[in-house]
Amino acid sequence: MSRTNIIAGNWKMYKTIAEAIGFAYEFVSGFEDGGREIVICAPFPQLAPLKRALSGSNVKLGAQNMHFEEAGAFTGEISPAMLAEIGVDYCVVGHSERRQYFAETDGTVNLKLKAALRHGIIPIVCVGEVLAERDGGRAFDVVKRQIEGGFAGVSPDDAARLVVAYEPVWAIGTGRTATPEQAEEMCAFIRKTVGEFCGADAADRIRVQYGGSVKPSNATELLSKEDIDGALVGGASLSPKDFKAIIGF
Ligand code: 13P
Repeated sequence: MSRTNIIAGNWKMYKTIAEAIGFAYEFVSGFEDGGREIVICAPFPQLAPLKRALSGSNVKLGAQNMHFEEAGAFTGEISPAMLAEIGVDYCVVGHSERRQYFAETDGTVNLKLKAALRHGIIPIVCVGEVLAERDGGRAFDVVKRQIEGGFAGVSPDDAARLVVAYEPVWAIGTGRTATPEQAEEMCAFIRKTVGEFCGADAADRIRVQYGGSVKPSNATELLSKEDIDGALVGGASLSPKDFKAIIGF
């Protein structure tokens, strides 16, 4: 099965609207996707202006979070319908920063993932262990539990459309990347685990990214691994030059 590589930038809480538009014009000029799918996951206020700035290119747009309800009295939240109206293609779900600082659980990840799919938005579901869990030999158990909880009740067809990002928390923003072997081992384990819950076809088709200190100097080796179908890039996606270098041109 050949899976289209997907490289997504996660801007986190960086860039004003003016900065985002400036990035988009520089990024799309002379842009080539090299057969890969490219996504920019921006903060909420930047999404609509970015959609316009990226129109005419094949760069896709992603959000970084959403609520799972259709509408309601949830002050400060954004619904999947609101994102769909803007034309958002992807949404990061369950990033470790959301789990750590905003009390997201495998249960809320599951609800958000299903809500996104109902609105035609493809979730990028983040999983990954903290350092104590890796050092304690529990990384695989933790990731298995996150997949099991996050994917509960998801049909094999829907599972096949998802993107999973393996982001070991100890590698995020630390400059300490997982070795290509560690990343490949876990991404292959994620595929196998998806197969146990959702069947062999979903395991074959689902795309699994690696995230955590991906930069131009280590991207090629990570992306050459069999079970790594792309990258979720934080810091290095803020610079058009670095992000283009990671994509490979
Ligand atoms: P860095 O690439 O800055 O380590 O961030 C990774 C990440 O959290 C992407 O979602």
